[in-house]
Formats: sequence, structure tokens, C-alpha cells
Amino acid sequence: MAEFICLFGKDSAAIVIKQPKKSPLFLRMIVLVFAMVCGLYICSVCLKQFGYVNLQSSQLVQTSPIDSHSLRFVTRIHYPKPQTFNRDECGHNPVRYFAILSMQRSGSGWFETLLNSHNNVSSNGEIFSVLDRRKNISSIIQTLDRVYNLDWFTSASKNECSAAIGFKWMLNQGLMVNHKEIVDYFNRRGVSAIFLFRRNPLRRMVSVLANSYDRYAKLLNGTHKSHVHSPEEADALSRYKPVINSTSLIHDLQETENSAAKALEYFNTTRHIVVFYEDLITNQTTLKQVQEFLNIPVKDLSSRQVKIHRGDLSDHIKNWEDINKTLNGTEYEKYLRADY
Ligand SMILES: *[C@@H]1O[C@H](CO)[C@@H](O)[C@H](O)[C@H]1NC(C)=O
Ligand SMILES: *[C@@H]1O[C@H](CO)[C@@H](O)[C@H](O)[C@H]1NC(C)=O
Ligand SMILES: *[C@@H]1O[C@H](CO)[C@@H](O)[C@H](O)[C@H]1NC(C)=O
Ligand SMILES: *[C@@H]1O[C@H](CO)[C@@H](O)[C@H](O)[C@H]1NC(C)=O
Ligand SMILES: *[C@@H]1O[C@H](CO)[C@@H](O)[C@H](O)[C@H]1NC(C)=O
Ligand SMILES: *[C@@H]1O[C@H](CO)[C@@H](O)[C@H](O)[C@H]1NC(C)=O
Ligand SMILES: *[C@@H]1O[C@H](CO)[C@@H](O)[C@H](O)[C@H]1NC(C)=O
Ligand SMILES: *[C@@H]1O[C@H](CO)[C@@H](O)[C@H](O)[C@H]1NC(C)=O
Repeated sequence: MAEFICLFGKDSAAIVIKQPKKSPLFLRMIVLVFAMVCGLYICSVCLKQFGYVNLQSSQLVQTSPIDSHSLRFVTRIHYPKPQTFNRDECGHNPVRYFAILSMQRSGSGWFETLLNSHNNVSSNGEIFSVLDRRKNISSIIQTLDRVYNLDWFTSASKNECSAAIGFKWMLNQGLMVNHKEIVDYFNRRGVSAIFLFRRNPLRRMVSVLANSYDRYAKLLNGTHKSHVHSPEEADALSRYKPVINSTSLIHDLQETENSAAKALEYFNTTRHIVVFYEDLITNQTTLKQVQEFLNIPVKDLSSRQVKIHRGDLSDHIKNWEDINKTLNGTEYEKYLRADY
């Protein structure tokens, strides 16, 4: 206040004495207006940059009882500071966190190779297949922290120039059991969920049975392979036709659909997108939408993997007559028909 007291004679002194009262108020107003303008500007820039996400929940309901609401969230960006290396020239690039939530034999391996063909995406594989990492919620969170701090190293790591970092997580790998804490973590740290499901759980069942058979049979020159890179290998693996238990079939299909629905319900407050394997195969737009969801530059993505079971399902199931009869007239009849 001392600065405002000047000696200007009686009249002017009166004015000057008033000013200390007015002036801080005036200054405060200016600061307030300035802050508001700044805030609005930052908001508008953020919204423009990160965009709102509209989920394609309507597609989801088409073939299954799964349902989800359209959610609108802004992607959260991060500037991780890894302990193991320096982000160097990419230190100023924001990073998005994601997790692919899926089930075994739903195409998530293939989906990951597609994502990893993007030079700014690191999807680190099925890290919770290791029991120790999902023993309890603290070991889960410890693992997640390391992944999202970019301190987790796999062949997929892009280190300093990753713009989206994640991994794939099967529903039965501690995800459903610890869903409450994991949803909290996702929301707290801004992790986006990419659900990857198959529309046709009967085809998934064929893949599950064939893959578990190959674990013992090792059809490819004595090595077990879950994914292949040539049509010859695919043919060799698909020559085995599994027998499907027709007694438990309906129940098993229901179980698969129920756990997908349950997962969506548990994670309905997170920022998420639902992707179907079948759409990835038949619709170019789907991969583009995934990249937009992750807010990364949209690129053409590619994978060297080759689909194992192609064509009519009747060619891939040993007791086809039986299965056809079991599903005839039920709500699952549609799964008998080849859809790609
Ligand atoms: C979680 O598991 C780790 C070892 O796997 C153990 O050291 C730790 O005490 C466990 N924490 C809780 C809360 O059970
Ligand atoms: C993507 O990676 C390249 C280097 O591979 C880097 O120059 C570029 O800035 C990155 N883009 C984003 C959005 O992080
Ligand atoms: C098995 O190995 C032989 C020789 O090494 C090779 O010619 C053949 O293509 C392999 N078969 C498969 C199914 O990988
Ligand atoms: C088929 O499923 C039924 C019902 O779950 C079970 O009782 C039966 O043992 C199963 N059959 C085979 C061959 O696994
Ligand atoms: C999420 O699912 C729960 C349980 O069904 C429901 O009570 C809640 O309203 C849902 N929340 C949103 C955001 O959809
Ligand atoms: C592909 O997906 C987009 C967006 O989900 C949809 O608008 C379009 O109709 C689909 N195209 C085909 C051929 O199904
Ligand atoms: C399945 O059974 C129906 C009769 O219920 C028959 O018309 C149809 O040809 C069968 N499908 C196949 C692929 O065998
Ligand atoms: C399939 O179901 C229809 C009725 O839904 C029935 O008329 C037909 O005989 C069934 N076919 C077989 C092969 O069981």
C-alpha cells in the first residue's frame, strides 16, 4: 500500500487514498477475466485436439444380448517419465494409455500385430498370462504402473516415440475377479479400454479346441503354434477337426456371451470402445475407428498372420451333423452359417 501514498496536496491526496481500495479490486477483476479467457481457450483447444468419442454400441447389440450405453469422454493424455530411459525428442509428445480386453482365441493376437505395425503404438502382449503378476491387486497395479510408465520392455516396445501404450488382457486373467479396483485404476489414470469380441462364439470354440489339441499334438513339425504366418501352416493346423460337446454346447455358448456382457457392465464407466473380430476382417473402417479412438495418426496397418480356420464351419467340426441338429431352431442357429 505504501506505494500508493503520494504527496499531491489535499485534493489529490483524497483520490489517492481511495485508490488503494479500488485498485486491488480492479486488478482482481482483470486477473479473473484473464483466467476465464485462458480457461475457455485451453478448453476449446483440448476439445478440438482430443475430440469426443462416440461409441458404436448399436452395432454391438446386433447379434448378442450384450448392451452398452454410448459414453462420451475426453481422452486423457500423459507425459510419462520412464525410469529406464529418456524420451528425448518425443518427450513433448503426449501418450495415451489403453488395454485390449478380450478372450482367448478372439483374434487379439492378430489385432495386436496390426496395432504394433503403427510406429507410434506399443501393445505389449498378454502380460498377465504370468500368474505372479496377477496374484493380487497390488501386483496387478505394480505391473500396470510399469507398463504405463513405459518401463515395460517387450519386442513391441517403441520406447521414446510411443503415442499409445497398452497390452492385452484376457477376462479370465484376474480382470473380472478384481474388476472394481481395476476400473478405479483405469478411471484414475485415464486408461481407455478396447473390448475385442467375436460375434460368433461357435467359431471361437472351434479355435479354442483346436489350439488346445495342438498344445499336445504339435502339428507343425513338432512345435505348438497359436498363430501362423503362411496358408500352408494354416491348412496343416485346420486339418484337425475338433469334436464339440453337443450336450454342453448351448450352455457353453451362453457362458461366453454372459462373460462378455458382464465385462461390459463392469467397465461401463470407463472410456471404452467395442470392436468385433469379424468387423476387423470385413470392414476397413473398423481399424480406422480404433486409431481415432486412440487419438493417433491414422495409418494403414498390416499383419503377417494368416487366419487358420477359413470357410464353412461344417468343414471344421467333426460332429457337424450333431451340432447342426443341436442348434437348429435355437437362437444360436445363426452361428452355423459362415459369416466370412
Ligand atoms: C501380493 O503378492 C506379493 C507377492 O506375489 C506379496 O509380496 C504381497 O504381500 C501380496 N500383497 C497382498 C496385499 O496380499
Ligand atoms: C511417431 O513416431 C515418430 C518416430 O518413429 C515420431 O517422429 C513422431 O513424432 C511420433 N508421433 C507421435 C504422434 O508421437
Ligand atoms: C516341416 O519341416 C520341413 C523341412 O524342415 C518343411 O519342408 C515343411 O514345410 C515343414 N512343415 C510345416 C508344416 O511347417
Ligand atoms: C459333455 O458335457 C456334459 C455336460 O456338461 C458332460 O456331462 C459330459 O461329460 C461332456 N462330454 C464329454 C465327452 O466331455
Ligand atoms: C453400469 O452398470 C451398472 C450395473 O448394471 C448400472 O447400475 C450403471 O447405471 C451403469 N452405468 C453406466 C454409466 O452405464
Ligand atoms: C463399416 O463400418 C462403418 C462404421 O462402423 C459402417 O458405417 C459401414 O457401414 C461398415 N461397412 C460395411 C461394408 O459393413
Ligand atoms: C443343417 O441342418 C439343416 C436342417 O436342419 C440342413 O438344411 C442344412 O443343410 C444343414 N447345414 C449344413 C451346413 O449341413
Ligand atoms: C430343424 O428345426 C425345424 C423346426 O425348427 C424342424 O422342422 C427340422 O426338422 C429340424 N431339422 C433337423 C435336421 O433336426
